[in-house]
Amino acid sequence: MKSKTKRTIGILTGGGDCPGLNAVIRAVVRRAEMLGYAVVGIKHGWLGLVQYSVEPLTLMSVSGILPRGGTILGTSRTNPLKTPADKKKLLANLKKLKLHGLIAVGGEDTLGVARQLAEEGVRVVGVPKTIDNDIEGTDQTFGFDTAVSIVTEAIDRLHTTAESHQRVMVVEVMGRHTGWIATVGGLAGGADCILIPEHPMSIEKICEILEKRHARGRLFSIVVVAEGFQLDGATQVTRDQKLDQFGHVHLGGVGEVIAQEIEKRTGFETRVTVLGHVQRGGTPTAFDRVLSTRYGVKAVDLIHEGRFGTMVCLKGNEISYVPLSTIMGKLKRVSPELISTAEIFYG
Ligand code: F6P
Repeated sequence: MKSKTKRTIGILTGGGDCPGLNAVIRAVVRRAEMLGYAVVGIKHGWLGLVQYSVEPLTLMSVSGILPRGGTILGTSRTNPLKTPADKKKLLANLKKLKLHGLIAVGGEDTLGVARQLAEEGVRVVGVPKTIDNDIEGTDQTFGFDTAVSIVTEAIDRLHTTAESHQRVMVVEVMGRHTGWIATVGGLAGGADCILIPEHPMSIEKICEILEKRHARGRLFSIVVVAEGFQLDGATQVTRDQKLDQFGHVHLGGVGEVIAQEIEKRTGFETRVTVLGHVQRGGTPTAFDRVLSTRYGVKAVDLIHEGRFGTMVCLKGNEISYVPLSTIMGKLKRVSPELISTAEIFYG
């Protein structure tokens, strides 16, 4: 008699890493085991499917990973649809793996690939990940809460030294297309001015805000700037012109540009702190651990129910799902309400 082999679910983590990826992987393995599936981990995002780099994931291999930052599967910014040769390899390897369903954990790029594959019949479910929190269709991505708590702590620390030295502190945070981290981290840290891609501002206006604050006797200030912010009429500040496989440039440096202008125009001594990848590292907050866990469980349930071509999401306090096709090509921008709330505290 033929022995019955378990159906297998594959999981990969793609794009920039963030805290909570391991919590998703753990939840997927635990829920899959409960429903009678085996799980295979695909290494380094889509690259693992192009190169057939896979490993079985068991209850043992995911034990203890809930609080760990990064991803035990590794990640990459590989676009497997960039060349027909890579796409051919990916499809052949998917066939070889005989997956019942694939879980793609990632941001706009990873989920964009998932959507295209879903249109071609691949049985895939997405999980929205990014510290930038800019994925349409969900109220929150996992990783964002942790990044905000890191930024808030950094601003608190910068406040004390800013006050001692009567300086302006410019804090550059991540946020390629949207200013979620800058706005929410800045609000939580009591920033005096927040600069985000959704809301260009002139250098004159920024200096006016700081001078107004100075005039009322507050001789130090905190300015939070998202890396994707552009001064009115200026071009985007980039580190170099190199593009990744999804066509993104390396951002970074806008904080320095703004700091120099502030010092030149106001005479206030100004320093810059670039938080960079510190925002993506380390252990997830309790909120992100729970959100990641709920997302992982729901992703397996969607596969079990045959709801492919979807993405798990948070709607209010409920975990739900949306079709991948309805969310792609859109960005979730910071709401006008949050922006105007932040503005009340400027100057
Ligand atoms: O996509 C998230 C993000 O944090 C962006 O805000 C940032 O521009 C990018 O990752 C930087 O990623 P890396 O340096 O790892 O390529």
